[in-house]
Formats: sequence, structure tokens, C-alpha cells
Amino acid sequence: MDVLGIDFGGSGIKGAIVDTKTGLLKTERHRIETPRPSTPKAVQVVILELIRHFNWSGKVGIGVPSVIKNGTVLTAANIDKSWIGQPINQQLSDETGCEVVCINDADAAGIAEVHFGAGAKVKGMVFLLTVGTGIGTVIFMNKHLVPNLELGHLEFKDTTVEKYTADSVRKKEDLTWKRWGKRFNRTLAYYEAMFNPNLFIVGGGVSKKMDRFIQHIEIATPVVPAQMENNAGIIGAAVHVAYL
Ligand code: BGC
Repeated sequence: MDVLGIDFGGSGIKGAIVDTKTGLLKTERHRIETPRPSTPKAVQVVILELIRHFNWSGKVGIGVPSVIKNGTVLTAANIDKSWIGQPINQQLSDETGCEVVCINDADAAGIAEVHFGAGAKVKGMVFLLTVGTGIGTVIFMNKHLVPNLELGHLEFKDTTVEKYTADSVRKKEDLTWKRWGKRFNRTLAYYEAMFNPNLFIVGGGVSKKMDRFIQHIEIATPVVPAQMENNAGIIGAAVHVAYL
């Protein structure tokens, strides 16, 4: 089945048609800047624009940087706070006339990677982090998703993991890759001690730049980049809808 997958990120909202059997994109990606402020109304306009761009009337899966429970947004760490409490699936389905199903963005990226990417052949526990504007986290046990884990917000080093290690923090504090890499290593060591996964997968923007910091990663558990790089969110959000 083909599904329009959309990744709602802190800086861009990207979409493509996905063949959910193979996990491959059937079209080029189309990207629109995330509106500021990223209110439900403003984002709705972008989603409609993407649907129109692809001339789409089928199912739509969207990865959202929030906890999504029972079709409702419960958190909004890096998007406009007015999202909290919104019945997002219902609203976007009504507004677009398409069947829209939203899922946490890290959960979406993880679904893509455990089915088609870096975690496809791994038995046991896979821990995926998306490192971008925020830090998204997701754990799979033998490909079974534990949804809406918000481990980026755990308290760490007098702040939170996200405020210590996000890629946006690296840019804002102008950290060298060495300094940031050491921070990231401490974060991974912390998660390793707490969760003991078989594999860490690193997704988000930094997954393309692993060569800049991998030499600072010293934990025992293997750490690999997401194979689908920035497309994982789009693919996973689409696949999630197809398998509902
Ligand atoms: C949000 C998560 C999201 C992550 C990555 C965090 O700030 O709380 O829900 O997965 O950012 O976008």
C-alpha cells in the first residue's frame, strides 16, 4: 500500500509517498519550512499544501515531535504549546478529507529502522535516538515498539539529556564535534547503564555526520547510524498507518 508519509520537524515539514511494503520512497521528498510559531492552524496549512503537492487522497501518516496518545497530543517541547490537548488525528482528517494518523516522530523513525534499516537483523533490544532540535528516544524489543518514551527529558548533568546533547544545543553553544561527541558519549553511557540495549541507532541530522564524532564514542554497546538518515521519520510514519 502507498501512504503519504510526513515528518513534522523543528525546522522543516517533509513529505513523500512511501511504498510501505518495501519502505522505499516513490517520489522525491518535498520540504516546507516549519511555520513560526508552529501553531496547529499554521501547520495544518502546510499539511494541506503537501497533500496538494502530491495530489494525494489516500492515507497519511505523520511523525510529530510530541507524545501522541489515543490520537491526542499530550506534549509540545519544541513546537507551539497550543498543540497540547489537540485531537490531532481527528482534526487533520476532518480538515484534509484524508485518513490521517499521527505518531511520535522518534517512534516513526524507529519503525523504519527496525523494519528496513540498521535494526532489521538485530534480535533483542534496539534503542534509537533522534538527535536534532530535540532528542527523541524509542526502544524496540524484537521489533515490538514501546511508544512515547520521553527519555530525552530525563534529568542529567544538572539539566536534561536534551538540553545537554541535542544538535540544536551543539549549534547554539558552538561546540566542536569533539566536545559535543564527548557529551553524546556520556549520554549514551547513561542510557547504556539504565537500559542495556543490544544496539544503539543514531538518527536525525547528526546521523550523516557520524565520522565527525564516532571516535569519541567509547561505550561497549555497538552504535550505528540510521540507514535511512533523514527519511526514516517519513517512512516509519507511513508504515505505521499501513499496519494499523
Ligand atoms: C519531544 C519528543 C520528540 C523529540 C524529537 C522531544 O523534545 O519531547 O516527543 O520525539 O523531541 O523530536
